[in-house]
Amino acid sequence: MQTRATKVTVPEIQRLKAVGQKITALTAYDYPFARILDECGIDILLVGDSVATVVQGMETTLPVTMEEIVYHLRLVSRAKPRALVVGDMPFLSYQAGICEAIANAGRLLKEGGAEAVKLEGGVNIARVIKAIVNVDIPVMAHIGLTPQSVHRMGGFKVQGKKSGRQPGARERLLEDAYAVCEAGAFAVVLEGIPMDLAQEITEKIPIPTIGIGAGPYCDGQILVIHDILGLTERFAPKFVKRYADVRGVIAHAVSTYISEVRSGAFPLDEHSFH
Ligand code: KIV
Repeated sequence: MQTRATKVTVPEIQRLKAVGQKITALTAYDYPFARILDECGIDILLVGDSVATVVQGMETTLPVTMEEIVYHLRLVSRAKPRALVVGDMPFLSYQAGICEAIANAGRLLKEGGAEAVKLEGGVNIARVIKAIVNVDIPVMAHIGLTPQSVHRMGGFKVQGKKSGRQPGARERLLEDAYAVCEAGAFAVVLEGIPMDLAQEITEKIPIPTIGIGAGPYCDGQILVIHDILGLTERFAPKFVKRYADVRGVIAHAVSTYISEVRSGAFPLDEHSFH
């Protein structure tokens, strides 16, 4: 465990790129996880819309609501983390109009305690990013495999492959990266893209790139906490590294509890009052 004296801020995240120090990010959805991850020294805690798939048991991230993200943000920000707290903007909370997007981004800060927001999209959403940044809400962009576009993409597929079916996909991803940077995003998540393209984007744009399934050349990495801990049964994509089998640990503890209650091995005198 590591303790750091200073709060991680948006300028600090940008400084890390400038000095060549890798940025570390993980998702968190509640107080105990926020505490543990923060004590380990993580730079960014993302209250991701992945809460839908790993906590709520949904198939996609599309059903998550503003109320739910605000709720999970509250749990995370209550841990008073040193890490920068980023709140994900749910599907349709920022696409329908600029005013609505600003109001919803503001809610994540005012009601949830987020310090920045994240939203998906490149050239198509640059106007929205600019408007949110203009009211001093820092925006982390997210391009490449954007899970909210699952139906357009026809599944969760790597984007911008050289051999891909869509000619010009790589060039479009570069344009997306330039567009979100130009619009004022302070960082950009690159998800599910070839590593050489991620490297090119990372070298060409001044803001930090945070990769997920985008190879080692990004300025930082982000993963879903339930995936790295082996907490879910869900299909783990190739880019996930499982650092623990917490599901196995929980299953063992719970099975032991059940058999001890049934056999009378628990509770003992030491667990009882006299
Ligand atoms: O919602 C999420 O968890 C995400 C990432 C992991 C980038 O958007």
